[in-house]
Amino acid sequence: EKGGFPHYMLKEIYEQPWVLENTLGGRLLEEVGDVDLGLELDPLEVDRVHMVACGTAAYAGLYGKYLLEGLARIPVECDVASEYRYRDPVVDGKTLAVAISQSGETIDTLEGLREAKRKGARTLGVINAKGSSLTREVEAVLYIHAGPEIGVASTKAYMAMLAAMAMLAIRFGRARGTLGQEEARALIRELKKLPRLVEEVLEKRPLIAHIAEKYHQAQDFLFLGRHVQVPTAYEGALKLKEISYIHAEAYPAGEMKHGPIALIDERLPVVVLATQGPLYEKTLSNIQEVRARGGKVIAVATEGDEEIRKLAQDVVYVPQVHPLLSPMVSVVPLQLLAYEVAVLLGRDVDQPRNLAKSVTVE
Ligand code: F6R
Repeated sequence: EKGGFPHYMLKEIYEQPWVLENTLGGRLLEEVGDVDLGLELDPLEVDRVHMVACGTAAYAGLYGKYLLEGLARIPVECDVASEYRYRDPVVDGKTLAVAISQSGETIDTLEGLREAKRKGARTLGVINAKGSSLTREVEAVLYIHAGPEIGVASTKAYMAMLAAMAMLAIRFGRARGTLGQEEARALIRELKKLPRLVEEVLEKRPLIAHIAEKYHQAQDFLFLGRHVQVPTAYEGALKLKEISYIHAEAYPAGEMKHGPIALIDERLPVVVLATQGPLYEKTLSNIQEVRARGGKVIAVATEGDEEIRKLAQDVVYVPQVHPLLSPMVSVVPLQLLAYEVAVLLGRDVDQPRNLAKSVTVE
């Protein structure tokens, strides 16, 4: 049932190209420059968004914030559901609570959503599991169609959630008149390329296995990124911790000098998301700062970037894509890195200690 793969996690990582096809399938209207999400919900009836989710799903929500704010100019708050549900959030009838969940059963997410509802919020679920509890409590559901996810560490569901966030942002941007038709078309064309591009990244597995070989004895890892690659950094660190039990932290790269820079020495591998985008040069400076302190840099960079080779010890190239969509190609090497490190350390990849696939108790 693992389709010839040694672990469900690896199988699910390799399923990501078709998962993207499934998530995006039939929803992209390239001609008109819009997406059809089949939602009852009118974007014009809300004026702010609260993302409610846990773990990996919360990182997808953070990606959604960059996109919804950038393309639809709607303010977005992100919080982990365990905080949201108890912090007495400011909610009114024009607030849209977006609950994001693979299982649709995560208790904190359900309770966070209920709290928003009690306060009068409109609700949307971005959910994988059909008919799950969460689907019955939201006004509208955007299914991500990732198929069953068995590996405890979420991979393909994250990919599908990112695609869902991109589509949501395009829909809201078009409805609110902040995203032009041409810009929307350009994004949609890029979204359509993603399954093929992710396929290309999967071919990098031997290189990533080699990098894992070099660094699997490390005690700690640091992950850095900027803008839409901040959630990618968080997700990369989470995957590594979950299945390899190596301590990993992630930071927005610009925050490095406000503390985490103290950790850097020759034993610290630093994974830097350094793909092309408006903040690329800033990220390069961060790489220089890491190198100046002896840190080992593993860069995820855009195909054709030769400059970065001079700075990073290891470079994993990912294909060129619209900078706002770069997380979808960049997270794949991080999933594979976590996987390869965990296998080298003899960990139980599909059933990591202390973790459950669906967290139904607080
Ligand atoms: C990460 C992971 C967890 C879940 C989190 C939310 O690999 O598996 O962080 O993402 O427990 O789960 P769902 O999406 O089912 O609500």
